[in-house]
Amino acid sequence: MHSTPQWVSKLQALLDGRPTYEAPVRFLGYNLDNPVGLAAGLDKDARLTWTSWSIGFGFTVVGSVLPYPHRGASVKVLERLPDGALVNRLGLPSEGARRVAWRLELSRPPFPIAVNIAGLEPSDYPRVARATCHVADWFEVNISCPNTREHSTFEDPRQARRILRITRESACGKPLLLKIPPTRDPDLIAEYAVAVREAGADGVVASNTLKTRVNGVQAGLSGPPLYPTVRFMVERLRELLPGDKVVVAVGGVDSPGKALELLEHASLVEVLTVLLYHGPGRVREILEGVSKAMARR
Ligand SMILES: Cc1cc2nc3c(=O)[nH]c(=O)nc-3n(C[C@H](O)[C@H](O)[C@H](O)COP(=O)(O)O)c2cc1C
Repeated sequence: MHSTPQWVSKLQALLDGRPTYEAPVRFLGYNLDNPVGLAAGLDKDARLTWTSWSIGFGFTVVGSVLPYPHRGASVKVLERLPDGALVNRLGLPSEGARRVAWRLELSRPPFPIAVNIAGLEPSDYPRVARATCHVADWFEVNISCPNTREHSTFEDPRQARRILRITRESACGKPLLLKIPPTRDPDLIAEYAVAVREAGADGVVASNTLKTRVNGVQAGLSGPPLYPTVRFMVERLRELLPGDKVVVAVGGVDSPGKALELLEHASLVEVLTVLLYHGPGRVREILEGVSKAMARR
């Protein structure tokens, strides 16, 4: 991932030609070719935006981005499980916000790019927002951060609200979405919805990976086992939030049918594990299925 120079990706896109998957949507004031995007975690440092564009995604998410360079977990884990799922423990490696901003200033493909922000302490979030708001179309605020200086994640809804509030002040008016962990607890989902409304944020991304343990260390589970929970969450969130707040679905989408089911309640769908596990061909099947189904409507 780190060794791919950006001009190679760009050349590749030009040579391949970007396939068009037409299912136009308007989202937070932006026009997207289609509502399917790459989720945070693969393109941590904005090195692969042209690759993401050339696959045919309607938008992409870079990050999570920290304000300073951070090497992440000393021993990184990324393992396949037999059912299409992955476990990962990367520990938020980041080249830092200034480097990400510089890369996006230099070259960016013609589709929306969201910046996903993480932090080891609450004050990290506004620092990333300030450094990248001129290159971000919207922000995702990732509160499921391991190894925080406060020795807990920021997943408590009150803490999330506080982080959203201070980040909003540094986001130059760019939309801010709260990315939440997976849960089937309806009260907790409702508390996140309240946090978003009270902080004046623009919506929710559901969800991050499920916490699990691998060989005694904490890791995140992604892929198909997440799907039923994410479906439950986006249905609840759409009921709870007013129409001017957006819901973005992410977790376990590995077919056009699952993407379309989530799009009944969510404005956009993001994918990641399906790309890592099955490759870009499967992602293009999802993009094609979604665009054909939406054209028939
Ligand atoms: C290898 C890997 C790294 C990830 N890194 C991040 C991250 O840095 N920030 C974040 O908000 N989510 C991260 N995620 C979570 C994904 O963005 C997504 O929410 C989750 O994997 C569920 O979607 P999926 O089942 O399509 O992968 C990561 C996931 C994986 C598999």
